[in-house]
Amino acid sequence: GKVVLITGSSAGIGAATAVQFSRAGAQVVVTGRRADKVSQVAKECLKVSPNGTKALEVVADVTKVDDLRRLVDTTIKHFGKLHVLVNNAGAGFPIGIDNKDYYETYLKTMQLNLNSVVYLTHICVEHLEKTKGNVINISSVAALQSGDGASPYHMSKVAMDMFTKCMAAELGPKRIRVNVINPGPIRTEILNAAGLPQHIIDKHDDYFSSVLPLGRVGDPDDIADSILYLASDHAAFITGTNLLSDGGAIAANAINNKALKEVLFHSTNILALLIFLHDLYTIWFGLRRRVNTNKRLDGQVVVITGGNTGIGKETAYQLSLRGAKVYIGCRDETKGNTAVNEIVIRNPKAVIRLLTLDLCSLQSVRRFCKELSKLETKIDILVNNAGIFGAPEGRTDDGFELHLGVNHLSTK
Ligand SMILES: NC(=O)c1ccc[n+]([C@@H]2O[C@H](COP(=O)([O-])OP(=O)(O)OC[C@H]3O[C@@H](n4cnc5c(N)ncnc54)[C@H](OP(=O)(O)O)[C@@H]3O)[C@@H](O)[C@H]2O)c1
Repeated sequence: GKVVLITGSSAGIGAATAVQFSRAGAQVVVTGRRADKVSQVAKECLKVSPNGTKALEVVADVTKVDDLRRLVDTTIKHFGKLHVLVNNAGAGFPIGIDNKDYYETYLKTMQLNLNSVVYLTHICVEHLEKTKGNVINISSVAALQSGDGASPYHMSKVAMDMFTKCMAAELGPKRIRVNVINPGPIRTEILNAAGLPQHIIDKHDDYFSSVLPLGRVGDPDDIADSILYLASDHAAFITGTNLLSDGGAIAANAINNKALKEVLFHSTNILALLIFLHDLYTIWFGLRRRVNTNKRLDGQVVVITGGNTGIGKETAYQLSLRGAKVYIGCRDETKGNTAVNEIVIRNPKAVIRLLTLDLCSLQSVRRFCKELSKLETKIDILVNNAGIFGAPEGRTDDGFELHLGVNHLSTK
């Protein structure tokens, strides 16, 4: 009889979860963008439901705030209550930082994997409070291990993990539990959605079957089982936890990024050898560089955000001592000029300049970049140091939540 809303339930993990909840007697909401898939899953749910309960079908795009509102309104209108919210819809789009579409892909990923979750949870709290319900977020092992070539996905999932913990702390007093599951590789449509051809996906699955301690990639039902457990009263004392369901991937350090790339992108053994030699070279020179803390930076162009105080100001001073040409960016011109003067008093040879920069405003960031590119043809070191803590609730002029705008988006 419990009412369960599962986003991304038209396929993969979400679809398996909807069917399992139905089999366990729940009233489920099946949702996704593809109407035909939503209907197909809803039919499966009806088939297995012990009490013949029909699933509610809602076609919605979670990246649209209006769709999310409609999703919740329709659920409450239809079932009158909500017990469990499963934030499952998500996708990953492989992309490198130097790709021209990186920033757009980053925003798209955050909108789908993170912002939708934050907003949907926000509008569900009042309903979950009435039922003393719970939330289960579907993250990934990508939140626990870095990898190159898909940083937006990794970042979206690590933020989801922290959102889970914060919500567990905040909503515990309302008797709402919030947990997160970090699946390892699961055989679903996710790699097709990321644009990989089937023969590469098969290689990907073979690779993981050979390196995971449990000797196979997961099935959507493996994750659905964990979701049902966390949603049930068997987990009544569990909140704020990360449940790894990954065939032992993390425990065994089984995800070797380089080997995985080799599988996905067909590199030859010779290329693997070259990569190995390149890494060896980088590590060797990296280590040498690290021990040489007094390395000169003569003429190197350094940009430091939030450089008028604290760590930023000291970094500006230290790098000026090594001969770098330092630009500090900050909002407050008076404070910025004071910092520059202080640094010049401490190091009369400092080559340092203030450029005003308000990281809350994309317009200001663009103006800063334009001004800088008139003065310099390259940047050698960018120190993303500016950050805020405990800002009052609010939005930047460009509509980003203030913390996200300053601490996160600005570094992109
Ligand atoms: N498979 C894995 O190896 C794996 C590993 C770790 C974590 N995960 C996580 O597990 C979750 C489910 O992924 P999956 O593997 O089951 O992938 P999947 O088979 O591709 O299913 C993704 C689901 O999300 C929905 N979706 C995607 N974009 C949407 C949008 N804009 N609005 C509404 N729904 C949207 C899709 O429905 P429509 O296309 O119909 O909209 C589909 O139902 C994701 O959060 C993923 O990051 C998966």
